[in-house]
Amino acid sequence: MNVTLELVPGVLVPRRETELLGRSAVALLHDGALDPVVIDMCCGSGNLALAIAAEIPAARVWAADLTDSTVALARSNAERLTLKDRVTIRQGDLFCALAGEGLAGAADMVVCNPPYISTARLDSESAHLLEAEPREAFDGGPYGISIHQRLIRDAVGFLKPGGWLLFEFGLGQDRQVAALIARAKTYEPVTFARDEAGAPRVALARKLRNGAAPSPSLAG
Ligand SMILES: C[S@@+](CC[C@H](N)C(=O)[O-])C[C@H]1O[C@@H](n2cnc3c(N)ncnc32)[C@H](O)[C@@H]1O
Repeated sequence: MNVTLELVPGVLVPRRETELLGRSAVALLHDGALDPVVIDMCCGSGNLALAIAAEIPAARVWAADLTDSTVALARSNAERLTLKDRVTIRQGDLFCALAGEGLAGAADMVVCNPPYISTARLDSESAHLLEAEPREAFDGGPYGISIHQRLIRDAVGFLKPGGWLLFEFGLGQDRQVAALIARAKTYEPVTFARDEAGAPRVALARKLRNGAAPSPSLAG
């Protein structure tokens, strides 16, 4: 997506498949507000945040991740790409990283490529992934959707009414994801972007305009 990233050991190497999420986000942003506020949760190297900022010149982007190495790398990539004036990078556990930034109900879009492999699978047939990349990048808890559950619940407090939540999920997780979004009762019915083989891999969920969103207790 037209950005060249520096990478270091301890940070996930961005995968080509994540361009589906990035391109879906950019397409919606091109049709939306002129100066959108975007949050990239679980930012890793900063790939999504920086590609979006490069593509949408008036966008202001907040990105966050849990680990020291990702946050340091995302900051250095933002600096090298001369995007640090519009891309702010914070560290913490999901949206706790953005508490006190004045982002309650302010985001036009939240994007996220979370970890989504179940712990059991990561310790068996996917264990090779841990040879070169960190567990935090892959481990989605007992069923692979622990971070998705929190993301769907907590993003609502940061989104504007009508704002978009876009996230990647694993092959075959679409029914679980659809159920989580429906159960939240704070989004319109989800749609999916599909990969080249036709498999749904990205969820697009729009926050209800008049919905009774839970109070943004983390948003400050
Ligand atoms: C699949 S990687 C995606 C990284 C990057 N966005 C990309 O597309 O290459 C998931 C990222 O989530 C981060 N992460 C895991 N648990 C987290 C949490 N509780 N809060 C914030 N970030 C978390 C990991 O450190 C990792 O960088």
